[in-house]
Amino acid sequence: MNILDIICKKRDKVELSKQEINFFVEGYTNGEVTDYQAAALIMAIYLNGMTDEEITNLTLAMAYSGEVLDLSKLGENVVDKHSTGGIGDKITLILMPIVAALGVPVAKMSGRGLGFTGGTVDKLESIPGYNTQISVEEFIQNVENIGISLMGQTLNLAPADKKIYALRDSISCVESIPLIASSIMSKKIASGANKIVLEVTVGNGAFMKDIDDAKKLAETMINIGKLAGKEVVCILTNMDEPLGYSIGNTLEVIEATEALQGDMDEDVKQVVLELGSYMIKLAGFGDDIESNKQKMLDCIDSGMAYMKFLELIQNQGGDISYINDVSKFENAKYIYTVLSEKDGYIKSIDAQSLGKISCELGAGRVKKEDVIDNQVGLIINKKIGEKIEKDDILGIIHANDELKLKNAIEDFKKSFTICEEYVEKPEVILGIME
Ligand code: URA
Repeated sequence: MNILDIICKKRDKVELSKQEINFFVEGYTNGEVTDYQAAALIMAIYLNGMTDEEITNLTLAMAYSGEVLDLSKLGENVVDKHSTGGIGDKITLILMPIVAALGVPVAKMSGRGLGFTGGTVDKLESIPGYNTQISVEEFIQNVENIGISLMGQTLNLAPADKKIYALRDSISCVESIPLIASSIMSKKIASGANKIVLEVTVGNGAFMKDIDDAKKLAETMINIGKLAGKEVVCILTNMDEPLGYSIGNTLEVIEATEALQGDMDEDVKQVVLELGSYMIKLAGFGDDIESNKQKMLDCIDSGMAYMKFLELIQNQGGDISYINDVSKFENAKYIYTVLSEKDGYIKSIDAQSLGKISCELGAGRVKKEDVIDNQVGLIINKKIGEKIEKDDILGIIHANDELKLKNAIEDFKKSFTICEEYVEKPEVILGIME
């Protein structure tokens, strides 16, 4: 078997065998397959797709390319959560402390930003002292001690996915159903949970731009889950505008803190409650979705969710004085308010463009080796369907570089379409698939 024949087959739309997929995944992980050969194969997969059997084989090969965690110590029903990615998506930071406070064991490995989307690990690292790179033993011990741990993906967890994920990002091959499904499910299989709630985002700020593709992605992940003995629920959510009002690492930590203190954006609340109520159900803590949502709201009101957030941060070395007083976070050098140039209703927001602006300001990586600037980002003051008048605040740009700020201002304004006619507020939850 050799890699050239495998590339040739996929290029010519011939189905790959399990042995061929294993050969590629093992070879690329250990360096025998080069980056340019892997890039050719990934592009051929992107263009020609994969059968269900190929997707399952790719997922399993990536999942078993490294260590597979055994979380059975934490109970029969360990529930994990993952998002297919979005703009301003700080759901993990808010949701996980709530469900942990309700007794659901939370052992979650998160990723860094990919393309124009943000990543939970980058957000956590904007909290001074917070350590995302703990050992697996410490991770499991934390969950045993306080019921929750959030860390970065360890070097040895699905290492093939880590390499392929970075490669896809650098050759414009992210938006592919077989590649996203296998990437997410390989990590979820390797991280050991047996129940998984997936947030499948849809819209211009997501990798899936339309609902039919999102449903196909959800169906693919549910099928992989069945074959791997994992129960998977997918919640389809709207990403035609950013989630919540902030984009950027420190800014999103501040929004998450306020949310856990009871001041939560309505759209964020809907996503948190929907995902959480299914996590609680899968964990075996209550089958009634509406009463699970009520338990979550009570948990926020009582302050228990916020206390769990503080406990999580302190337990992983973070300085909770920044959380208890978010004004301690240092501001970016330039804070620029963008005003509306006309009256009307917000018709659309180009979430992907806002994600890119935030990335260019330094909140994400344009190149793999870029260092994240935690302070920069965007605040959105008006969402789709809201009325706006000339000179009302459209949003605020936080920047540390004058030139980057200058470039961001016009692009920020162009990301909003304002019309004269009344615009309906869009639905947030677009469907649930089990
Ligand atoms: N999230 C992942 O983990 N992988 C993808 O390919 C896309 C989003």
